[in-house]
Amino acid sequence: MAAKWEPKNKNILITGAASGLGAAYAEALLKEGAKNIAVLDIDVKTGENFVSKLNETYNNKAIFIKCDVSKEEDIKNSFNIVLNKFKRIDLLINNAGIMSDTDSMWRLACDVNWQGLVSFTMKAVKHMRKDEGGDGGTIVNISSTAGICKLNFLPIYCGSKGAVLHFSQSLAVCIPLMYNLLHTRSALGKCRYQKKATIDKLLCFLPTSKRRRVSIRMCLS
Ligand SMILES: NC(=O)c1ccc[n+]([C@@H]2O[C@H](COP(=O)([O-])OP(=O)(O)OC[C@H]3O[C@@H](n4cnc5c(N)ncnc54)[C@H](O)[C@@H]3O)[C@@H](O)[C@H]2O)c1
Repeated sequence: MAAKWEPKNKNILITGAASGLGAAYAEALLKEGAKNIAVLDIDVKTGENFVSKLNETYNNKAIFIKCDVSKEEDIKNSFNIVLNKFKRIDLLINNAGIMSDTDSMWRLACDVNWQGLVSFTMKAVKHMRKDEGGDGGTIVNISSTAGICKLNFLPIYCGSKGAVLHFSQSLAVCIPLMYNLLHTRSALGKCRYQKKATIDKLLCFLPTSKRRRVSIRMCLS
């Protein structure tokens, strides 16, 4: 088992973190000593309420930023706001996701699950790369067992989560080959859907900062 990643003094950005698993990651990481957490979500009311509750317990370490991850402008602006506030991002968790294959929703779901995640990932890689003045960091891209199982009632969701997995694994392989400066590692998690278990796995999957500069990881829940 990998050593537990140490959240102390880390600045963290989590998408889709107003509720669900993203909110659970935020709370768990603050409890473990994270320095600052940016909660990004499309749901302003839930996000603001969640962050003010976090701030009561965790001494104003959380900020909420409205961000629709299907919109490039929102991604760009919120990434810059977080950088301005925190000065650096040590951990990005691309968590926002929609499971809907309906006629009216599938395009949006693909934008959220896949395009938004790619955009945030590439911005974070650029920011973290040591050969471009960055300090390294960790990127966690949330996929799903749907990314490896073939579910005939959710083919589009499966496709988007498969894309997340393949993209993240490809990036994890190509970055050290291309730049030889970022030590990356991909890991397929085996966690089941249980919030506590997922969070424990998430923390355990993360690398010790001394050994790895950038780690692209997939959490399968
Ligand atoms: N819950 C599960 O059983 C499960 C299993 C496998 C994978 N996952 C993945 O884990 C992630 C979180 O799942 P969850 O169950 O907590 O989901 P959830 O629906 O409970 O929460 C998703 C959050 O994302 C936000 N969101 C939705 N659209 C958004 C957008 N356009 N921009 C920004 N934020 C947006 C929502 O407001 C919400 O706060 C997703 O990527 C999901 O695919 C979940």
